[in-house]
Amino acid sequence: MIFKIITLFPDFFESPLRSGLVGKAIDKGIITVELINLRDYALDRFRHCDDAPYGGGDGMVLMPEPLFKCLNEKKGDAYTMLTTPAGTPLTQEFVKELRGKQEICIICGHYEGVDQRVSDRFVDREVSIGDYVLSGGEYAALVILDAVSRYVPEFMGNSGSLEEESFEENLLEYPQYTRPAEIEGMKVPDTLLSGHHAQIRKWRMEQKIEKTKRIRPDLYKRFCEQNRGEEQ
Ligand code: 6GU
Repeated sequence: MIFKIITLFPDFFESPLRSGLVGKAIDKGIITVELINLRDYALDRFRHCDDAPYGGGDGMVLMPEPLFKCLNEKKGDAYTMLTTPAGTPLTQEFVKELRGKQEICIICGHYEGVDQRVSDRFVDREVSIGDYVLSGGEYAALVILDAVSRYVPEFMGNSGSLEEESFEENLLEYPQYTRPAEIEGMKVPDTLLSGHHAQIRKWRMEQKIEKTKRIRPDLYKRFCEQNRGEEQ
């Protein structure tokens, strides 16, 4: 899978792309990340990429010319996303849709936004990673890259099943414990030490439901609706 990231701050990605499973996947050629410096496509000798908004208002807008030039040269057949707090929310469901793409291009939005014509011409989907505002789309681009890469075959190695994690069946994950069995008077639940697999499965499912109900009533509602649907 190939990711093309168009950004004003390519250095931002240096350490994250060397670390953890993403770093390993890049080393092994399981995923490829091309960092594209938008300033290389600026038209003037000062390499400007932003300008004041027509109609007035605060802040600056990413200019269309550098992005048109860059995308005409680099986009190819890539599924293209623009990061913006005003985009479609990134969910696990959306991530699963993206895993089918061979190439993904992510334009990192900045300032007050990007000239609308860039979106109209090149962008398949505007994406937000949550209901809060970030100073730049680079943070969001890394989140998208990581979440999608996990579905590339070989990315995860043997570190866990993608089916048994949070958001599958609209439930959060159950709490995990490891050794020691007691720390400062805090004990691991007896059931987990019992070796009784059926009871452990039951305990974990109860925990998932209780936790989801408490922390994410919105997800819990969907879980209930989904199960009601399956019974009919
Ligand atoms: Cl994708 N970009 C910015 N700037 N802020 C955000 C976001 C994206 N998603 C949530 N907040």
